Amino acid sequence: MSQEINSRIVGAAPVGARDTESAGRAVREMFTSIAPRYDLVNHVLSLNTDRFWWWRAARTFDSILKRPDARVLDLCCGTGDMTFALRRRANIGSPQIVGADFSHAMLQRAAEKGRGTSLAWIEADALRLPFPDAHFDLITAAFGFRNLADYDAGLREMVRVLRPGGECGILDFGEPRGLLGKVYRVYFKHVLPAIGTVISGVQGPYRYLPASVERFPPPEEMLERMRGAGFREASWTPYTFGVAGVYRGIK
Ligand SMILES: C[S@@+](CC[C@H](N)C(=O)[O-])C[C@H]1O[C@@H](n2cnc3c(N)ncnc32)[C@H](O)[C@@H]1O
Repeated sequence: MSQEINSRIVGAAPVGARDTESAGRAVREMFTSIAPRYDLVNHVLSLNTDRFWWWRAARTFDSILKRPDARVLDLCCGTGDMTFALRRRANIGSPQIVGADFSHAMLQRAAEKGRGTSLAWIEADALRLPFPDAHFDLITAAFGFRNLADYDAGLREMVRVLRPGGECGILDFGEPRGLLGKVYRVYFKHVLPAIGTVISGVQGPYRYLPASVERFPPPEEMLERMRGAGFREASWTPYTFGVAGVYRGIK
């Protein structure tokens, strides 16, 4: 990871990135390279816990999802699993749900998996969303926000496109503390990158993953940043002993 970008930008900084533009490009190329095996690697490495996390995060927003007139955006939707979890929770409600991602290859897989549903997919950068102000009632981002090249700009963009009273849910990895944290760190920093590299057949992305989690602000700082960006309420709920967690913001 470049020391230069490390000190200037509070956001993802993959190897070789010099500024937010090149960091964004590197992130997009990385996800595009692992798109074909992304789902398989995900389920293997998380022992399927990812499915539970998506379901639990989606359930948090039941009251919005059951409203037939709600507009919902799943940012950094990748191959769409969080988007599908939102759709399932909405059940008989029929909100408009859009999945957005800036990797064409990831989005293509989402669209294939979602064929026959009313879900819409859009290729867009989370830092420059092609939506008007105050458009959405709910924005989610599962394991994607951490990859933004500028966290504050990402939060401000979410606030911009949310209606007053609208909510966001950012599901992402955390760093569990205590003895469990020590054991987990060995798995996350050494075992996971090795397995991820073998299954995906691509060097790099699964080494970037633990580095990006280490770089991600701890909950107290994230909550400060959310309030600073314009959320009037911000809270964090840890999942699975803090291995993951959801940040909830209300505009
Ligand atoms: C780890 S994947 C998560 C995908 C999905 N949400 C899930 O839970 O499996 C992160 C996704 O974020 C997308 N992403 C990262 N930075 C982005 C940005 N600035 N704008 C849009 N998508 C972005 C990547 O292309 C990738 O598909």
